[in-house]
Amino acid sequence: MQVTRATFDEVMVPNYNPAAVIPVRGEGSRLWDQDGREYIDFAGGIAVNCLGHCHPAVVGALKAQADRLWHLSNVYTNEPALRLARKLVDATFADRVFFANSGGEANEAALKLARRWAVDHYGPEKDQIIAFERAFHGRTFFTVTVGGQPAYAEGFGPRPGAVDHVPYNDLAALEAVISDRTCAVVLEPLQGEGGIINPVPGFLAGVRELCDRHNALLVFDEVQTGVGRTGHLYAYEGAGVTPDILSSAKALGAGFPIGAMLTTAAIAESFKVGTHGSTYGGNPLACAVGETVLDLINTPEVLDGVKARGERFRATLEAINAEHHVFSEIRGQGLLLGAALAPAYAGRARDFLNAALEAGTMVLVAGADVVRFAPSLVIPEADIDEGLRRFAEGVAAVTEPAAAAS
Ligand SMILES: Cc1ncc(COP(=O)(O)O)c(C=O)c1O
Repeated sequence: MQVTRATFDEVMVPNYNPAAVIPVRGEGSRLWDQDGREYIDFAGGIAVNCLGHCHPAVVGALKAQADRLWHLSNVYTNEPALRLARKLVDATFADRVFFANSGGEANEAALKLARRWAVDHYGPEKDQIIAFERAFHGRTFFTVTVGGQPAYAEGFGPRPGAVDHVPYNDLAALEAVISDRTCAVVLEPLQGEGGIINPVPGFLAGVRELCDRHNALLVFDEVQTGVGRTGHLYAYEGAGVTPDILSSAKALGAGFPIGAMLTTAAIAESFKVGTHGSTYGGNPLACAVGETVLDLINTPEVLDGVKARGERFRATLEAINAEHHVFSEIRGQGLLLGAALAPAYAGRARDFLNAALEAGTMVLVAGADVVRFAPSLVIPEADIDEGLRRFAEGVAAVTEPAAAAS
């Protein structure tokens, strides 16, 4: 059956507007579309494909599990889920793991657990959840309400209550809103969708301190920053601030859907039998992949490699900027980088994305003013260099459209 981009408009719900090209094959950091045209992938499925496309070890893990056992439900446990949970516990602050299928679901579990924990220990009045403006936590109705982009939560009727927002990096604003009624403070330790916003020095430690003062749980959403993206297995390690609950997804499955919520044994007690669940959460296929991904990423060589690749990436972006004067700032950590557009190009991030695609490199945006890069964590240096050479071509096409056309 012949399918094209036009088929999308004929048969799909119109909540997305995908690009004109349809990738059909991937290998490492390269993709090929229906016409056989090759691209370098700096988008990584939105910070998901941490080992590039079709990494042989991950493909092998999936195939081996596919020949063994696909699904059981949570009526039974399974070996891959137990092994992955054991490895996550050994590698982090956490003692307990809940598996889900996506970031939004991992966060939904985190928020429900925080609320239930507060009810169990302090009573139903301790219900306030404080989150941050521009945050992104998923698209379930609870997580989109906690997210800090009101447009995503509006127009669906009454929202879950007792959710307040304050500006990111503003401890005084948090201090003014937090109280003994606060059950949890939820944040990304580096805001992704909101524009690649680094926490300012002292911010995360200050949030931790305010949570402790008011017996509120600290929830880190590491769906985008987790599994090596910042050069640490989880960004909280680099920040030196430990949360009470952490959500992980995206890169944990390297492209196979999985989510996980990590927490301490004491907090986990509030999820008793029947309080929460998921048919597919802890699925053997997903967990077999996750185990292999964790084994591959959680090594000093790979994590140091992320930092080194990030520096190379950043230096080349600075060089592009020295020539074209398009960015006001390059920010982020490891291989989660954002190039904020200078005022002259405000609102035009998508033009740069489209021009880069035209030149053969896939990038992302983070809002209208930031071009975002989230490539494979093991991308070869040669692919970084070639992908950014093509990106620079795209930048020139935006900044000097006449020269590019001639
Ligand atoms: C920080 C963060 N949390 C949650 C999510 C939602 O994850 P999912 O789309 O897998 O539900 C995302 C997705 O972009 C994210 O970046």
